[in-house]
Amino acid sequence: MGTATKTRLDIVPLTKHIGAEIRGLDLREKPDDETVRAIYQAWLDHLVIVFPGQKLSQEDLIRATHYFGDLGTLDRPAKYHPPGFSRMLPGIMLISNIRENGEPIGALPDGEMMFHHDMIHKPVPSKGTMLYSVEIPSEGGNTLFASGYAAYETLDPAIRAPLEGTRALHHYNYGSQQRGQGGVEAFNECVHPTFRTHEETGRKAVYVNRLMTVKVMDMEPAESDRLLNALFDHAEKPEFVYEHVWRLGDVLLWDNRCSSHARTDFPSSERRLMMRTTVAGTTRPI
Ligand code: SIN
Repeated sequence: MGTATKTRLDIVPLTKHIGAEIRGLDLREKPDDETVRAIYQAWLDHLVIVFPGQKLSQEDLIRATHYFGDLGTLDRPAKYHPPGFSRMLPGIMLISNIRENGEPIGALPDGEMMFHHDMIHKPVPSKGTMLYSVEIPSEGGNTLFASGYAAYETLDPAIRAPLEGTRALHHYNYGSQQRGQGGVEAFNECVHPTFRTHEETGRKAVYVNRLMTVKVMDMEPAESDRLLNALFDHAEKPEFVYEHVWRLGDVLLWDNRCSSHARTDFPSSERRLMMRTTVAGTTRPI
């Protein structure tokens, strides 16, 4: 370990529009620069990449995040460390329903989550999110990823035309997993284009979501609701979605600029523990 390893990448697409598994890569070992570039390109092409069968330390997870950009900082650094870990490195957040003294040790603890884009309530949202599965329930807790490109490219012109060039307002109460849920701590909001142009691929993607988008700016509320609901229904169609059923040791990286994600319910009696890092955004959405 420590020296660069040249690897033949085996990239297996998972659906027509979104998701690819990269096989034969051990993220404990540093790939050479050419391999890192190929992984990065696979990420741009497939929006979500899966690295199965990993066994990572926190340092490994942070190093792997750096292949895609700068490590994002956390609004709320991990307060707890999970059983078996003596500390959490800065930049790693826990997503977990495990509780200590009745309090979840991680964020987004329980059950289902509506589709959303990470950090869309910030002026410069995260470019990517990496999630590493450490403990998983026997069923459920799957993460669904929707291609914002495919949704945009197939959108009915009767919905697309009135939304083209508009901006939308996004709210987030930390901790909320369903629209209207109270959440905890700070309340944040931000306005971004309804359709975002990816700064690296130049492609346009739907950039609103059911969990966090409140309204289209400068539009009658009834018309804004009508168009947004039609857009959400379209963007969440199964043909644009890859549903990831977690295995232990999976590492996923998704592109928040052109995909949204959601989570299915899982038994509250079973433990789920994920370590999450983010790749810092470099620009305001345009
Ligand atoms: C997230 O939205 O960042 C969490 C997704 C998950 O827990 O599967």
